[in-house]
Amino acid sequence: MKPYIGAAYYPELWDKKEIVKDIKRMKDIGINLVRIAEFAWAYIEPEEGRFDLDWLHEIITILEKNNIDVMLCTPTAAPPSWLTSKYPEVLAKDSDGRAYVHGSRRHYCHNTPKYIEFSDKITEKLAKEFSNYSGVVAWHLDNEFGCHIRECYCDNCRRKFQEWLKQVYGTIDNLNAKWGTGVWSQRYDDFSQVPLPQKTPSTHNPSLLFRYKNFMSTTFSQFAHRQADIIRKYTKTPVTTNGMPAYHEIDYEEMYGKLDFIAMDLYTLPGNFHEIAFEYDWMRPFKKNKPFWLIETSATSAGGLVPWSILTHKPGALRCKMWTTFAMGGEAVAFWLWRSQWSGQEMEHGSVTYSWGEYTLAEEQIRRVVAESQKARDFLNETKPPEPEVAIHYSYQSIWIFNYGHTAKEFTYLAEMYKYYSGFLFSNINRDLVYPGADISKYKTVFSPFQPIFSKKMLGKMEKFLENGGTWIIGPLSGFRTEDVTAYKTAAYGPLEDMLNIHVRHRLPPDEQGKPISIDWKGIGKSNANFWLDAYEPKSGNKVIASYSNGPVKGMPAIIETKAGKGKAIVFGTLPDKLTFMKWLNLTQKANKTPFLKAFSDGIVIIPRLDKNNLLKGAFLLNLTENAGKVVFSKECRDLFTGRILPAELDIAPYEVFLVQRTT
Ligand code: GLA
Ligand code: GLA
Repeated sequence: MKPYIGAAYYPELWDKKEIVKDIKRMKDIGINLVRIAEFAWAYIEPEEGRFDLDWLHEIITILEKNNIDVMLCTPTAAPPSWLTSKYPEVLAKDSDGRAYVHGSRRHYCHNTPKYIEFSDKITEKLAKEFSNYSGVVAWHLDNEFGCHIRECYCDNCRRKFQEWLKQVYGTIDNLNAKWGTGVWSQRYDDFSQVPLPQKTPSTHNPSLLFRYKNFMSTTFSQFAHRQADIIRKYTKTPVTTNGMPAYHEIDYEEMYGKLDFIAMDLYTLPGNFHEIAFEYDWMRPFKKNKPFWLIETSATSAGGLVPWSILTHKPGALRCKMWTTFAMGGEAVAFWLWRSQWSGQEMEHGSVTYSWGEYTLAEEQIRRVVAESQKARDFLNETKPPEPEVAIHYSYQSIWIFNYGHTAKEFTYLAEMYKYYSGFLFSNINRDLVYPGADISKYKTVFSPFQPIFSKKMLGKMEKFLENGGTWIIGPLSGFRTEDVTAYKTAAYGPLEDMLNIHVRHRLPPDEQGKPISIDWKGIGKSNANFWLDAYEPKSGNKVIASYSNGPVKGMPAIIETKAGKGKAIVFGTLPDKLTFMKWLNLTQKANKTPFLKAFSDGIVIIPRLDKNNLLKGAFLLNLTENAGKVVFSKECRDLFTGRILPAELDIAPYEVFLVQRTT
């Protein structure tokens, strides 16, 4: 483990005297990575076809000399004005068909041939020129595909969407059949008639909405992969880009599948640090052998592109965020940005240094983490976290369906995922978040909540998993849509019902003239039935775990268990309250084994460290909350950051972090 502590830097905006001072300060505080050039197109290619690369050579050389590694970006997130004025067709269009004007960023359409041509050229130029620097340790594509605008409605996108649909469906009759376009006489005679989801008097067909999101996501990935392929002609240096999971709505299984490692941007409020853990839990297993980078996060506050600053860190929260990254499998924490902008849209955004050069309030905590990481390095290199036995499915298909298609009232996919995920996190049940394409054979238990689509491939995989003795926990709101987001005509859950020998008899919203519906959960208690009700008709061998206690399906099973292969499936027809769910979770799932801890309070996340023989050597103790907590040791432990032996009862302040090692 390195680790990297980095920052985004814009040398094109500062004169040489200031750059020299900046680099001196970077070295002084311990910055060993900078990301540059993602918005520098106007400086790299000031006129069409005329490149000015001297300044970039100069800065990379200085950084290399100072042992600061470089992540070099392609600058395509901000096309210059000569390009947008000479070739206005490159501008993206909003859903009313109006072109975005120049003056901000991400105003381009990634499906427009002219833009792709310019993107190819500048990417090739950079790759050719800068592939030989040993200081360039990673390449970075563009900046946040899907940030600000996630869709474009220009003619190129329309044509390309129609061509893409032709590839997916083959014939228009097949598309009509799969989407069920008979409803409201939408039937198409030709692919050229299929619209983009622009203004209509009422809602669009959910299959069309889903495929349009799918298309936008796929073409963002194609655009990224095209740049990556160009870079790879010249260098073996790893290539990635910065994602922002909840916000960009891009299928990262597809996007990062063909990139070399994962980098993410996170601007989470200190009160919601479980959301950071959530991101790390999918990034870590995705590229098992290549640690992820947190490539953008705020050092103090984030402007969020509004002209004021939010997100000021509570005491200790910055250090906690940095250590959580390293504890959960990250190799780098990089700040956005090194030095506050002195002009432009983001002057109020927090940073490591102010525009006038002095350090911000982040200084003390960054210095502390740099020092601590040096002390902890050997121990961290010799130990590793345990392998989780639980996988939780997470998918972009669900984001597209729940955000744009038909859904249950007031249901927000990510909010519910975060809520239930934090149950696993704070119960210290070690888990990976996995995409539908992931290999799940090594896990003991797989949870698949809020996954309307189970593809044929996924069902095959899960059938094997059950045959081999796995436990599959399904739902709520899972398995009820086909791969084209239509309902099944054979059974509510289609082929899943036969596979598991279960039957859904009724599906309905959870409302009885304004009165909430509840369930009786044997051995657990009563809970509200939230968002949706699927009521089962028990088949032979089904075990009823919970039933509806009132409302139109009173007495019918709400949660059932069924044997399948050597394993079993537990199927949720509704979403219980979080606390009830957690009670059940803690009774049925094993928490991390940390025998040197007798007790610990809520909110403390424990990440054990095992040596190569899988012997428990120590653990990270992270307080990810704003509440003070406590840990009681049963064996003597040392704090690796300070070297001191810890008291048997250790108070853990909000956002406090310990890396403890057993002394015996
Ligand atoms: C209206 C329409 C129907 C149907 C219902 C649904 O009354 O005429 O076609 O959409 O709403 O509530
Ligand atoms: C995004 C962008 C950065 C910057 C930050 C501000 O993550 O990638 O360029 O605008 O937001 O928080």
